[in-house]
Formats: sequence, structure tokens, C-alpha cells
Amino acid sequence: MEIVAAADSDERGLKLLKVIGQLQRLFSFIHSLTCHRIKAFSSTDNSSSSSDTKQVPDMSHEDLTNKVKDICEELILSHESLREVCDILEEELNKGLGRDSNPEAAIKCFPTYVRELPNGKEKGRFLALDLGGTNFRVLLIQLGEKCSMDSRIYAVPQPIMVGSGDGLFDHIAECLSSFIKERELGDELLPLGFTFSFPCKQEGLTKARLARWTKGFKCAGVEGRDVVELLKQAIARRGDVRIKICAVLNDTTGTLMSCAWKNHNCRIGLIVGTGTNACYMEKLERVELWDGDQDMPKQVIINTEWGAFGDNGCLDFIRTEYDNNIDRESINPGRQLYEKMISGMYMGEIARQVIIRLVSEGLLFGGKSSEILEEKGSFFTKYISEIESDKNGDFNNCRTVLEELGLNNATDTDCANVRHVCECVSRRAAYLAAAGVSVLLNRIDEESVTVAVDGSVYRFHPHFHNLMTEQISHLIKPGMKFDLMLSEDGSGRGAALVAAVASRSESR
Ligand code: BGC
Repeated sequence: MEIVAAADSDERGLKLLKVIGQLQRLFSFIHSLTCHRIKAFSSTDNSSSSSDTKQVPDMSHEDLTNKVKDICEELILSHESLREVCDILEEELNKGLGRDSNPEAAIKCFPTYVRELPNGKEKGRFLALDLGGTNFRVLLIQLGEKCSMDSRIYAVPQPIMVGSGDGLFDHIAECLSSFIKERELGDELLPLGFTFSFPCKQEGLTKARLARWTKGFKCAGVEGRDVVELLKQAIARRGDVRIKICAVLNDTTGTLMSCAWKNHNCRIGLIVGTGTNACYMEKLERVELWDGDQDMPKQVIINTEWGAFGDNGCLDFIRTEYDNNIDRESINPGRQLYEKMISGMYMGEIARQVIIRLVSEGLLFGGKSSEILEEKGSFFTKYISEIESDKNGDFNNCRTVLEELGLNNATDTDCANVRHVCECVSRRAAYLAAAGVSVLLNRIDEESVTVAVDGSVYRFHPHFHNLMTEQISHLIKPGMKFDLMLSEDGSGRGAALVAAVASRSESR
């Protein structure tokens, strides 16, 4: 009993000492803050109203920059990690293509039923519909010696993106009808290609069942259904439009076809935009899954749907706390994990998460955040492109972006460090996309292959093309040649070409 009491009083003594120690440290910290606010933050007086100033460590500019670099280190992929990503992707693609392994595979490798590439002589007038992001487009395409196009963009309001399936298809049918009336196309029965850029299991050139929604869409009652049928029903409900749907395709297929029209080495279509995905021309003998005919040509375009790479945990070794946060807060947790590390829908938010952490550790903006910066989604992916477009050492765009975010007094060190965050995020995305393309190039194994690319990230990021090119050349078999080519309007011209090639094959 006594011993216990003695132990108790010892513990109390120790606790008291600890508390005194903590108080001393707190006083000396407050003292250090008031006496010598560090140089690095002396000009940082953000007028932003929100968020308390965090504890600011006593550090020189150089120390700050080094600490920021340390924290960003986990976003930098080593050559070994990238090689491992390639090896795993190769295995996952094989699983997707295998008849027995496909049901469990994360990467579905959907055969598109597009077996032929265009020969450049396709002609005619076509309609195309393009749904895959926040906008929906209707296009009228004239294929011939040259290609001309007339199109109109319609918004897809957020409530429609997450409303009912009928609501979405009624909206599409209404836009189509108003386009046909405006352009006075009512008398012609034009062939139509429908670019529907979501994962679909195709059962033919005009039949595609939605496997799952991605990119912020979640319309009820569409998963598992044939989207061509849903479109036809919506058109029938209106009763004022006549169309002939000749093909349904993914935007990657459109991108590949559009580029292959004039470039006969083109075998891969890649999108790095709101989402990411790639398709490629595969030999039938390697598509165990294929249930179509074995006629010539013995090949088919495979829509890999590689955005879902990693959904079975195989990429966890490179994923970070930021990736986990983004996934957890997304509309589709646990899904599209590779896409969430690469594409435009998520890149800005990854950068914001890193920046928020740096602010909370007192390493940016004197530890002071802003109301806007604290809002999810406020750091747009286009900001990354803008910030990285500044010439080295110049922070014009960076300051404009930070001001838009309510951060008005950033120092040069802050700007340089924000830029570093953006570079780490975009470089990782470009290298991961490059790893994917390298795997496809190595599979195709031809001497010289052109990769058709589209998407806002690839188009507008100032270094994405170069970063990808540099990394692919490290990852492909020695001696192979490749080039990444911006593909003009895959979703429009590509859709018309799929429709044209389909009618050519039909008439044989
Ligand atoms: C979709 C793909 C599409 C890609 C690019 C992904 O979210 O699943 O079907 O090709 O985005 O638009």
C-alpha cells in the first residue's frame, strides 16, 4: 500500500516537472516570436481575413526552401519506382485482356470493335455528339480532301451531371434537336458518331454498356445500360429528330482515329484532360477476351480504361496522404486511383493539399492561409500551368494566382516554393502517364510509333509534352522511335472517321 502511494506521489512530481518544462518552452517560443520575427517572413503580412497564423519556425529562406523540398520529396518518383509501375501495369493489362482474369481485373481493356484505321480517303457529312466532361458538343463534320467542322458547345449543368439518367439523355437530345434546327439539317439522315468518354463494355460498334461513371458524373440508372439505347429513347420521347447512330466510341479511340487519318504510324490514343485514359491497336491473338469474328484485319483497338489502374491497391506504394485525402473526399472513393494522380480534375487539388500542409507548418505565407485557399477545389489545375509558365525567377503569374486566392503579400521565396509544389505535382503526373505510354509502346513493339494525344492538361501545361517525351525515352526498349502528337479534335473528327470506317467495312 505504502509503495503504491510513494509511486503515486513520484508520478505527480514527474507530471508537475513536465508541465513546468512545457510552460518554459512555450514562454521562450512566444519570446522568440515577438523579439525576432524571422527575416523570411518580415515582408509577409497577408491581409487575408481567415485562418489563424500558425506557429512560424525560425528559419532562413534557404532553410525554408529545403524544408519545403523535403516535404515534397514523396511526390518525386524514382526511376526504379517508375519501372515498377510499368511492370505492374503490364501485368494488369494482361489480366484485363484474359478471359478468366477479366472479371476481377481493375483495368478492363474493353475491345472497341474498331478494327481498321482510316486510310485518309474517307468522305462525307457526319454528325457527332461529344459527352465526356462539363461540356457537351454537337458537331457537323465534312470529311474530304480536307476536314471542316461546325460545332456548338452546350453546358451540362451540375444538377444534370448527378441527376437522373433520363434527365441527362433528354438534355443531350434537346441540344441535338436545337443544333439540327439551327443548321437546317432536318431533311437529311446523317450518320452520327457518339463519343461517350466513360468506361463502357462494348458489345458491338453501336452498343456500349456503361461500366461506371467517372469525372464527377453520377446519373442514376445508367450504369449497366446501353447508352446508345438510352439516347435513342430520349430522341424518341421528343419525336422531332431523325438520326442514324453508326458508332459509339471513347474519346481515346476518336483521338487515335483522328491522328491516324493522316499519320499512318499512329497506334495509340491518349487523353490527359479532366480524366485520363489510353487506347491502342492490339493483335487479336493477344485479346483472349475477344468474342467477335477472326476475319482480317486480325486486330482491334483496345480501350484500356487505365484510369482504374491501382484500384486493387497495386499502386499504394507510390500513393501519398494527399492522394488518399482526395480519393476519400471524391464522388467515387476507391476508384480511378491512377486517374486521380494524373488528370486535370485532381491535379490542382493535390497541389492545394500540399500547400495547405506547408502553410500549417509555417513554411509558406508566414503560416497564414486565406479563406479561399482553405476551400476544397479552389486551386484550379489551370493555375499549375499558369504558374509554371512564368520564366525562371519571375513570379508574375504566380502572384496573380495567389492574389486570386486572397494571398496578397507572398514573398519571392513563397512564390518559388509554390512553384516547386506545382512542378512536383505535374512532373509526377507526366511521368506516370509516360510510364503508361511506354508499356503500350513496348507491347506494340514496332520500330516507329506515333502517339496521338489530347486533353487540357497535355495541351495547356507548358512542359507536359517534354516531361513525357523525356521519361518515355528512358522507359522504352532501346532503338524504338516514337513521337507524341497533338491530335486535333478527336471527339469530333475521330467520331466521324469511326462512322466512316464502319460504313466502309459494312459495304464490303
Ligand atoms: C474515362 C475514360 C475517358 C477518360 C478521358 C476517364 O475518366 O473513364 O473513358 O477516356 O476519362 O476523358
